[in-house]
Amino acid sequence: MDNRILLSERELPKSWYNVVPDLPKPLEPPLNPATWQPADPSLLAAIFPMALIEQEVSAARTIPIPEPVLDILRLWRPTPLVRAFRLEQALGTPAKIFYKNESVSPAGSHKPNTSAAQAYYNRQAGIKRLATETGAGQWGSALALACNFFGLECMVYMVRVSYEQKPHRRTMMEAWGAKCIPSPSDQTNAGRKVLEEDPSSPGSLGIAISEAVEDAAGRQDTNYSLGSVLNYVLLHQTVIGQEAIEQLKRAGAFPDVVIGCCGGGSNFAGMAFPFVPLKAAGKDIRLIGVEPEACPTMTKGLYAYDFGDKSGMTPLLKMDTLGHDFIPPGIHAGGLRYHGMAPLVSLLHREGVIEAVSYPQLKCFEAAITFACSEGLIIAPETSHAVACVIDEARKAKEEGKEKTILFNLSGHGHFDMAAYDKYFAGELENYSYPEEKIHAALQHLPVMK
Ligand SMILES: Cc1ncc(COP(=O)(O)O)c(C=O)c1O
Repeated sequence: MDNRILLSERELPKSWYNVVPDLPKPLEPPLNPATWQPADPSLLAAIFPMALIEQEVSAARTIPIPEPVLDILRLWRPTPLVRAFRLEQALGTPAKIFYKNESVSPAGSHKPNTSAAQAYYNRQAGIKRLATETGAGQWGSALALACNFFGLECMVYMVRVSYEQKPHRRTMMEAWGAKCIPSPSDQTNAGRKVLEEDPSSPGSLGIAISEAVEDAAGRQDTNYSLGSVLNYVLLHQTVIGQEAIEQLKRAGAFPDVVIGCCGGGSNFAGMAFPFVPLKAAGKDIRLIGVEPEACPTMTKGLYAYDFGDKSGMTPLLKMDTLGHDFIPPGIHAGGLRYHGMAPLVSLLHREGVIEAVSYPQLKCFEAAITFACSEGLIIAPETSHAVACVIDEARKAKEEGKEKTILFNLSGHGHFDMAAYDKYFAGELENYSYPEEKIHAALQHLPVMK
């Protein structure tokens, strides 16, 4: 059997799959924090184009991908599905392990699957500039890439701790014409307020989102772009799972377990959601989202209405949350340091369709090295969470003598994360176990109806 199962460019999916009609119960709507009534779409229209707002609330099972977006996706899609023979051998497992390699995009992760679509729809709506946040820098560089293709300016607020850990992500964004500054910054009210309270704040995705939303809300020519969490972002990522299903069919395989790491939930959803109707139809399949122990949104959070950002500028979303002012420890998987989880992933989690597990940082780096030494690829610290879980599942298969098939999403490479690997080799990384007191304190500040 071949190592890599490839599809031709002509076989790129022509539509996105929307999980909404296949949910076990309806999604609760975003609420206006002032009234606790369903948010009027006009509330969103200040910062998002109408085409994306329509996708956010769509109940259609499939939504066509516009041709100019397909033109961009074709630069790297369909991505390879790879049988990890050498990892299987290294683990001595009877399990078959497949991974979908999303690291082959120009920016190095799954994120351009949605940035291409978002830049396109904003351009169509006459917008000239996009503002966004980025954690690890993967999303910022993906949006910079897409803005470059569609002739838009791009402004990125990058979480300070990652900005300092990964200076070359900024350079990459600049190469594609974007501007990137550390967050909290002195450019917005939200940033200045945090700096007043803590001048050495490491930042968080919640703070950076507040800055980018404030930037977009304050300028006519600017919209806000989000790299995860929202329904339409997860929708755009479903090309991953759709391709994987077709590729597995060609390999004569079907997964028993599907695994992805979870920050805001988009790469996991992109891989797992196309399997949801198959599971509902009776296929025996486990869908597992993996998060860091330092930011255990699904495994230790509450399912409640909360803000998507630190300073309460977004509508309220019903989601698994650690509280919008929870600032996670500065782990190297910067893209997993988010207090909330996508409402769609949260609902499926609470309904038992998907499972959630959490892993400590050191075990994830150990898994990344096992993967690098067997399959060759140096993966992003975010992705290493998925790989740690894959290795555990493969070892379990060995103990049980079961020949199960494991599929996971290799969400990104770690070529800009060498400083993190250096620290790991030098023994300078630590496990931040579940920061119970900080989470408890943050959950006291969940919004309440007045
Ligand atoms: C490589 C990689 N994987 C995963 C994630 C987590 O995001 P999401 O849960 O939206 O896929 C990120 C976010 O920055 C990332 O860069």
